[in-house]
Amino acid sequence: MHDVTRPAPWTGSASATGKPALYRDLIQELDALLTGERDPTANAANAAAAIYHSLPALNWAGFYFLRDGELVLGPFQGRPACVRIPMGKGVCGAAASQRQTMLVPDVEAFPGHIACDSASRSELVVPLLVGDKLIGVLDLDSPELNRFDADDQAGCEALAQVIVRHLT
Ligand code: SME
Repeated sequence: MHDVTRPAPWTGSASATGKPALYRDLIQELDALLTGERDPTANAANAAAAIYHSLPALNWAGFYFLRDGELVLGPFQGRPACVRIPMGKGVCGAAASQRQTMLVPDVEAFPGHIACDSASRSELVVPLLVGDKLIGVLDLDSPELNRFDADDQAGCEALAQVIVRHLT
């Protein structure tokens, strides 16, 4: 169970300095927050909110889940987004079909990028995998060019592993 007396990264009062420490704290607190609840929608919703309010300079954070061969919008924080993304289309569809993280420093330079929010300038999409099986993607957008680096990729890939355990 999440300990409400401890300052979680999403409260704005946590003390982690540096990205690796921030991701370490976020992973630990999010795991505690989701533990004990089995409803995947509730857990995805809390995960999106925790990420959006913990990581700086995001304008969108959320999920697309694989439904009948296409990606369908799941819980998120940010402006309303496109609901359905075909496999292979956009950054999300590329991450899903290649089962690989896509780190896009400049979305305008990514062929086929789907502009849901015109404020988005860079994007990080991590596939959600249960073993070899794809269940969806975690998508983060930033209004800053070049917002995401290798620390964000490693941190979000670790986050995705923890989240998947609470969605299945
Ligand atoms: N930009 C994404 C679409 C989803 S939104 O960013 C929320 C893409 O190209 O797949």
